[in-house]
Formats: sequence, structure tokens, C-alpha cells
Amino acid sequence: MLVSPSLLSADFGNLARDIEMINASEAHMLHLDVMDGVFVPNISFGFPVIKYVQQLCTKPLDVHLMIVEPQKFVSQVRDSGAEIMTVHQEACVHLNRVVQQIHDAGMKAGVSLNPSTPISTLRDIITDIDLVLLMSVNPGFGGQRFLPVTLRKVTELRALIAEIGSKAIIEVDGGVNNVTGAQLAQVGTDMVVAGNYVFGASNPLEAIHILAEM
Ligand code: DX5
Ligand code: ZN
Repeated sequence: MLVSPSLLSADFGNLARDIEMINASEAHMLHLDVMDGVFVPNISFGFPVIKYVQQLCTKPLDVHLMIVEPQKFVSQVRDSGAEIMTVHQEACVHLNRVVQQIHDAGMKAGVSLNPSTPISTLRDIITDIDLVLLMSVNPGFGGQRFLPVTLRKVTELRALIAEIGSKAIIEVDGGVNNVTGAQLAQVGTDMVVAGNYVFGASNPLEAIHILAEM
């Protein structure tokens, strides 16, 4: 699978060192979680930090906005160097318009679903997007337990993508480790986000390697 380690679990006092580790690893992207304290009950980091990360990181940036009104920040996300901008379906009244704005800004567009949001809500947007990010925990914090309902949702999403003929890839975020990663690979997940499993490991390079081999 493709692997996008989540910077949320990095050591912010040693960010440059942790990004060097990512650069030397088999990670395909670097996942950046932006939170606003409104859409989710937590606040993480914003654009000055992402710009700094982008200067040091050789991997493409996968930016996950857990914020209300993400359409207000499309150009700032682009200017901070993101390759993928992912917004939440639940945060966008005019999701189709936001996706167009992301594409017009020259980025790939991702749409994320919370654990309780059905796959069927993607039917009329799936041909227009590049990535679906399924949350396998309630968003806001690293280090939570994987919700098994996600496995059924990946299967259902795979079928929808095949039925409609979409190019979208499936990314799963939250509680991914060697056990849940293997389960996700089996049901056809394309990319996993991993925070604690990578940055909490005694050998983060090996943890990334294990997921990448699945
Ligand atoms: C959670 C974030 C995740 C988080 C994952 O709201 O979207 O990206 O960093 O962390 P782990 O892998 O520790 O569950
Ligand atoms: Zn995330």
C-alpha cells in the first residue's frame, strides 16, 4: 500500500529531524492534519508550519483539513505547497464547487468521510475527485482505536468506484498499525495514514516499510 505518515504524532521539538526520517523512508506522502477547534474538538497547526515542512520534505504533502468552511483556504493550502487538499464532506454545503476550486488551484482533490457518514453520499461526486479519505476513528486526535466498520466501508467504496468508473484512490486514516493495516490491504485500500504506529515505533523506518509492503 501507499503510506502517508501523519505528522501529528511527530516530535514538534524536533520537526526537522523527523522530516529527515520521512525523506529517508519508503513513505509515499506526508499527511498533515489541520484542525480548527470547531469541526473537531482540537487544534493542531496552520499554514506557517506547513510551509516550513514543505521546504524540508521531499515527499508530496497530503493536507487533511478538519475545519469548517475549507473553501476559504484553497489558495493558502496551494501556496503552502500541498499536492492533495482533502476536505470533509460534512463541512461542505457546496462540495462540488469546493472540489472545482481545488482543481482550479492546481491540486488534487480529496473528500473525507467521518465514520458515521455513509459511502452513498459520495455517489454524485466520486467521478470528480482524486481521493477518498475514510476516517477510521473520530477525527481530532492521534492514537485512537481503529473502528472495524471501516473495512466494510472500504469494500463498499471499492464497488462504487468500479461501478461508476472513477479514478479516485482510497485512503484510510486513524488507528492504522501492522494488524489493521493488513486488514485494510485485504479489502483493497490504496493508501494508509499512520501517526502513532510510525512515530511511536522504536524503528519508524521499519514501521513504514511494513505498511508499504502490504
Ligand atoms: C486524526 C487525524 C489522523 C491522525 C492519525 O484526526 O486525522 O491523521 O494523525 O493518527 P493515528 O495513526 O495515531 O491514529
Ligand atoms: Zn488525518
